[in-house]
Amino acid sequence: MSAVISINSGSSDSIESKVADFISRMGLDEKIGQMSQLQGGGGWIPDDLAESIRAGRVGSILNEVNVEVLNEMQRICVEESRLGIPLLIGRDVIHGFKTIFPIPLGQAASWDPETIEAGARVSASEAASVGINWTFAPMIDVTRDPRWGRIAESLGEDPYLCGVLGAAMVKGFQTDDLGEPGSIVACAKHFAGYGAAEGGRDYNTANIPENEMRNVHLRPFKAAAEAGVGSFMSAFCDLNGVPATGNTWLMDDLLRKEWGYEGVVVSDWESVVEMSVHGFTHDDEEAAYEAVMAGIDMEMASSSYLDHLEGLVAQDKIKLAQIDTMVARILTLKFELGLFEKPYTDQKEHAAVLNKSNLKIAKEAAVKSCVLLKNENNTLPLAQSDLATVALIGPLADDDYEQLGTWIFDGESQHSVTCKQAVEELIGRTVEINYVKGLETTRSNNHEEFGAAVSAAEKSDAVIMVVGEESFMSGEAHSRANIDLPGHQAELIEAVASSGKPLILVIMAGRPLTIGNVLDKADAVLYAWHPGTMGGPAIADLLFGLESPSGKLPVTFPLAVGQVPIFYAHKNTGRPATDHTCVNMDEVPARAPQTSLGMTSFHLDAGYKPLFPFGFGLSYGNFKYVKITTSHSSIGLGDTIDIHADVINTGAREAEEVVQLYVRDLVGDVTRPVKELKGFRRISLKPGERERLCFTLHTDDLAFYNRKMELVTEPGKFHVWIGGSSDAELWADFEIHD
Ligand code: GLC
Repeated sequence: MSAVISINSGSSDSIESKVADFISRMGLDEKIGQMSQLQGGGGWIPDDLAESIRAGRVGSILNEVNVEVLNEMQRICVEESRLGIPLLIGRDVIHGFKTIFPIPLGQAASWDPETIEAGARVSASEAASVGINWTFAPMIDVTRDPRWGRIAESLGEDPYLCGVLGAAMVKGFQTDDLGEPGSIVACAKHFAGYGAAEGGRDYNTANIPENEMRNVHLRPFKAAAEAGVGSFMSAFCDLNGVPATGNTWLMDDLLRKEWGYEGVVVSDWESVVEMSVHGFTHDDEEAAYEAVMAGIDMEMASSSYLDHLEGLVAQDKIKLAQIDTMVARILTLKFELGLFEKPYTDQKEHAAVLNKSNLKIAKEAAVKSCVLLKNENNTLPLAQSDLATVALIGPLADDDYEQLGTWIFDGESQHSVTCKQAVEELIGRTVEINYVKGLETTRSNNHEEFGAAVSAAEKSDAVIMVVGEESFMSGEAHSRANIDLPGHQAELIEAVASSGKPLILVIMAGRPLTIGNVLDKADAVLYAWHPGTMGGPAIADLLFGLESPSGKLPVTFPLAVGQVPIFYAHKNTGRPATDHTCVNMDEVPARAPQTSLGMTSFHLDAGYKPLFPFGFGLSYGNFKYVKITTSHSSIGLGDTIDIHADVINTGAREAEEVVQLYVRDLVGDVTRPVKELKGFRRISLKPGERERLCFTLHTDDLAFYNRKMELVTEPGKFHVWIGGSSDAELWADFEIHD
């Protein structure tokens, strides 16, 4: 499987011959140099780094973003090293470079591949304008644990959605030609199983049966490989007892041999030498050996390759041919990027960062990412003409930094437009805005401003509160055991709600929060994730009806953190809970006998349902689903089936809806989920408008890995749903016959 879609300079044969020519002329030390990625100096070139580059001991630099410094590094490489092989320049351009987009989990809530691709395109072009040619994104770890801080960087809980949206990001970063100015190579990470870190605690162990790996965690990575992603990154985690970075089953048997992937694999930061910390290797030399045997082409940040590979080859523990294969992948990528023809960056050839077009695309992404979770009595949209005074309250209402979210290495808060700024711009000429921060930060428990907040609410016609998490509370190494609103924000909300005025909550966070304790205090709730540079204007346009919310949850919202993991595509178990069998602890009589409770799968103090299900999101329309039909009642293996349904907007406003298709395979060689997303489509309907949608499924779309790890579609009965969330009720059935 070719790693990258097309090659910029001539046919792939010419690249192969050029690569072979280089390999034939390279010394072992120079080959090992290509396999080493070192940290940049952060705005200058330390002498030892310059010397290493000159000696051909560096194949890639990460975390340098100064265009002059990068051009000088490339110059040293090209003009002063023996072979003149340019550098790969890596950076975490996760959801924007200077123009910051919503965090990936927020972008995933748009369920809009085109919007996501456009965002990645902007991010790549801005990063390329300083000389970056490799981003460590998309992060496509399937995660069903909101305690895990890195859920913020993910595309959510569903393998199919992660795969479709991850592929869109790859396309946006890479375009169809890596050699095009502005294209940068993407990196599918973290391979694999990292999202299942035990306890939702970052870097923790992941124990995932192979069948679950194949049916869930590997699917988005397969989609990224098929989309032509140019690189993979190994995960930090110990996967079933073997760290991913040394896991030959994962990295070689599966990725290389079974999938035929030919792109570059880079380790995560020092994950090679961390194999000794895991207790998988004794020392750096053994770690280097295991990583090479697994097929990790490039070592990020640590230097075990530089320190030990020559010795390992001399001891014949590692074959020179193995090194040559790995170096060939690195050189091939450099040719595909056009680095040999054009190693330097001329900023005059690139559009300015943060230009109007980029900011417009970021705003559109933020608009589509926000999810309307509640809108009692059509509180929203607010009608500016009906308002004389609006209270704007909360620690995140005017925080230009926190709204950017996690992983914004190069984003700058001064470019953010906050909610306060946007609301003032939008309605400030005719509506009085009473702004009270209420709490210094989201963690504050100081009630000193509560009085001012309440009085601002009391003298206003409507109240907008912007609360949530600070950006550092999610992202790498930032997991939480309690996922309530931090600090005394719930107390502030309760105090303000006592005013009795229409209360709109805007929540900015890097994860699903357990917000059940404040939900009943608000008339409307808009979940904005961390919405990026243009979060304020996007939120203001949604609150005042210039836009209609259309986002859908890419991850389940638990009622209580104790329910985690809780996700829609769960197995049925032998004793599935129902509303009839589920018992509420508070209703159990004293001295109840042990067998008095419904003997099914639920929590006595939280039931079995989430607060909000995967795929859920309201709009300013009202969508009804009727008349589901299937083109056949039974099909054969290799056939397709069309599933139709009508969608009607019975609301009073035009709105967009993400229509979703779910399937259940009733009986399988291994147990199958009660629902699986198999398609989605974003539509727009005017009030009263009706559209008949058709989804086409091929029997291959229903394939899964069986007990023998064979990818099969089995004959049998299937249910299919079409609706606006994973709670879809409109269903039909069909059969696949032998
Ligand atoms: C980090 C992250 C990884 C990132 C890399 C480079 O530790 O795990 O996602 O791309 O190091 O910053």
